Amino acid sequence: MLRKMTIEDYEALFAMWSNTPNMGLRSLDDSKEGISRFLERNPNTNFVAYEGEILVGAVLSGHDGRRGYIYHTVVLPEYRRRGIASSLVDMAVEALRQEGITRVCLNVTEANEEGKKFWLEKGWEKKDFLGFYSKAITDKENRQLFRVQP
Ligand SMILES: CC(C)(COP(=O)(O)OP(=O)(O)OC[C@H]1O[C@@H](n2cnc3c(N)ncnc32)[C@H](O)[C@@H]1OP(=O)(O)O)[C@@H](O)C(=O)NCCC(=O)NCCS
Repeated sequence: MLRKMTIEDYEALFAMWSNTPNMGLRSLDDSKEGISRFLERNPNTNFVAYEGEILVGAVLSGHDGRRGYIYHTVVLPEYRRRGIASSLVDMAVEALRQEGITRVCLNVTEANEEGKKFWLEKGWEKKDFLGFYSKAITDKENRQLFRVQP
């Protein structure tokens, strides 16, 4: 069953994210408060997949009025290659389109071979001419909670 994400999903989401290697979880962004704020700003564009009571996949997506962004696309290992991520991403993209967004962006670490294959297969384009720049603007550094070993 696929449906919109709510903050009630948070504990199951955090458990799934924590058990997924290389998620790069952030202590502020991925805290319950951080996700709650994200969902308040983007109530219609985040989706979860459940098999019975078990959360098996999810996608975070939102926009700033100009570009859509996708984060934390994950499906539990035993549920992969069944089209679940494809369905979640399609729902997120359609929801962004409904909100007037014309382009969606995401980051994949270079070492994530399966992630890269998934996005390329789904028709996403790697922009080799672009560099990714970022700057932490919090007083307290928004550092990673922990790294999950691959
Ligand atoms: C990437 C991920 C979300 C894909 O989830 P999924 O539900 O298995 O994806 P789908 O079943 O919708 O796959 C769609 C297509 O993508 C491609 N694909 C997906 N996983 C792949 C893999 N491991 N190797 C090669 N191609 C892959 C295939 O073409 C697949 O179609 P097919 O199964 O008919 O061949 C999942 O592997 C995952 O959670 N990985 C860990 C987290 C992560 O890396 N997320 C992405 C980075 S942002």
